[in-house]
Amino acid sequence: MPAERAAPTFTIARFDKALHDRSGFSCGFAPIDNFLKSSLSDQIKDGMVTAWMATAEGNPAVLGFYTLGAMAVRAAFGPRAWQRARIPDVPVIYIRAVAVREDVQGKRLGTALVVDAMRRCIGIAEQMGAAAMIVDVLDGTHFERRWKFYAELGFRALGDPDNPRRVFIPMADVRATLG
Ligand SMILES: CC(C)(COP(=O)(O)OP(=O)(O)OC[C@H]1O[C@@H](n2cnc3c(N)ncnc32)[C@H](O)[C@@H]1OP(=O)(O)O)[C@@H](O)C(=O)NCCC(=O)NCCS
Repeated sequence: MPAERAAPTFTIARFDKALHDRSGFSCGFAPIDNFLKSSLSDQIKDGMVTAWMATAEGNPAVLGFYTLGAMAVRAAFGPRAWQRARIPDVPVIYIRAVAVREDVQGKRLGTALVVDAMRRCIGIAEQMGAAAMIVDVLDGTHFERRWKFYAELGFRALGDPDNPRRVFIPMADVRATLG
C-alpha cells in the first residue's frame, strides 16, 4: 500500500463536547458541517441520534464522524424476506451522516467509520430488531464516487421510487462480511 494511502492512526469514540473539538471541521458540504456544529448536541439530547467521532491520538480535532438513529422503511421495498414478515414497516438503523474532514479524505477514514458503524449495528441488532442499515447517499458533486463508496461496502439500492438515493445493507450481510 503506498504511504499516502496508509490508514491514519485514530480512535473512534462516542461524541463528548468536552473531548471533541468540532470548530475546525469541514467536509466540503456546509449542511453536514452545520449539522455537526449547530444541531448535533440538541439531537443527541433529544434522543434522535448517537454520534461517533474520529480523532488522531492526543489531538481533540474531529477528523470524521457518523451518527446512528432508529428508522423504519416500507416492507414493500428491499429483499423478498421483508415481505414474508407481514409487517408494513421494517425496523432498520439509519446512518444519518458520515463525513471526513476535507484534508484527510481519500485515506480510508470514511471506510473505517462505516466499518465501525457496522460493528456497532451488529451489537445493536442483538438487542432489538433491526433488519438492515440504511443511508441516503448525498446528491450533488461526486455523487457517483459516494455511491461507489457505499456499493463497495456492500450497500445497494433499496428500490424506493420516492427516494432513489436510499441504499441499504441487510444485517445478515453485515454479519457475514465482518464475522
Ligand atoms: C464520502 C466520504 C465519507 C468518504 O470518506 P473517505 O475517507 O474520503 O473515503 P475512503 O478513503 O475510505 O475511500 C473509499 C472510497 O470512497 C470514494 N471517495 C474517496 N474520496 C472521496 C471523496 N472526496 N468524495 C466522495 N467519495 C470519495 C472512493 O470511491 C474511494 O474508493 P477508492 O479509493 O478505491 O477510489 C468523504 O469523502 C466525505 O466526507 N465526503 C464529504 C461528505 C460526504 O459526501 N458524506 C457522505 C454523505 S452520504
